[in-house]
Amino acid sequence: MTAKKASAIANANIALSKYWGKRDEKLHLPQNSSISMTTEGLFAHTTVCFDAKFTKDSFVLDGKNIAPDTPEFKDYIGNFLTFVKKEYNITEKARIESKNNFPGSAGLASSAAGFAALATAVNSALGLGLDEKGLSILARRGSGSACRSILGGFVEWKKGVKDDGSDSYAVELATADHWKDFRMVFCITSLSEKKIKSRAGMNETVKTSPFYAEWLKTVESDLARIRQGILEKDFTIVGQTAENNALKMHSLMMTTEPSIMYWNSGTLEVIDAVLDIRDKGMGCYFTMDAGPQVKIICLAKDVEKIMKKIEALKSVEKMIVSRPGEGAYITDDHLF
Ligand code: DP6
Repeated sequence: MTAKKASAIANANIALSKYWGKRDEKLHLPQNSSISMTTEGLFAHTTVCFDAKFTKDSFVLDGKNIAPDTPEFKDYIGNFLTFVKKEYNITEKARIESKNNFPGSAGLASSAAGFAALATAVNSALGLGLDEKGLSILARRGSGSACRSILGGFVEWKKGVKDDGSDSYAVELATADHWKDFRMVFCITSLSEKKIKSRAGMNETVKTSPFYAEWLKTVESDLARIRQGILEKDFTIVGQTAENNALKMHSLMMTTEPSIMYWNSGTLEVIDAVLDIRDKGMGCYFTMDAGPQVKIICLAKDVEKIMKKIEALKSVEKMIVSRPGEGAYITDDHLF
């Protein structure tokens, strides 16, 4: 039997209206829909090979072997492979290698890019013939937010209502070309790995935050504003709503028991600078995920001035500028 091998590249994505909490922990079905931008230039490159001669599944991430008996393997790649093998009657073991061109596990959506690339590569290696919707559902089985990185530009993950998750996948709201001068400036305030993974954190939030039900009541109107803001290229509406939505999500994290605090002093330093820049009349907003990094939302014309201000802050280790990027795609460039 011949080996079945393929490689894919997928960009990370950053939510403008966040996903935080599941209605089904196993299938990664969310409590609410979310909207994101696929970020050009922050990507995962993944190669997968299924071969009868392999005696065990293996996974190498950024050059480091992740042992199959660790939670890092079992809860992520292990679960995903178990599902794929069962669903498609695959008997061969898999070898997977993945590389991110940006730091992993630091609130920069590395699992989203990684599983979108893996789902795309698996689809090709095994000849599954999945369309965009099928790929988005497959990527979701690895990590919820990964379903959004299958598509490019501005993307909505429809939460769906069915128990089997067949209606919980991402759709394109607007292509990357629709809003060419939309930017996110990633301000890296710490490259250490986060202590609490999003997965564990959001499950605790749903169970213990007294504000969770209130969050759900406000999400639909945030989604509607951001959807409309994107379609009309109304930067103020998108920025204001995204910033407010991120702060609501972080309030949920902080009011989880025991509380989850992803911020560090650098996070506050950057937020303070964004507020200051805005006070002086320039349109810029911020969003944050499960980590201390701040992503500044702005327009291309203001990037240089904003970066100059942020550069002067002692807590910012690195900045990366990103624009709306393409969805996941197959490449002939194999990692092994
Ligand atoms: C804060 O998609 O990483 O980035 O589905 O358990 O793998 P799992 O969680 P994950 O959570 C992402 C949470 C977030 C917000 C967002 O991207 O919408």
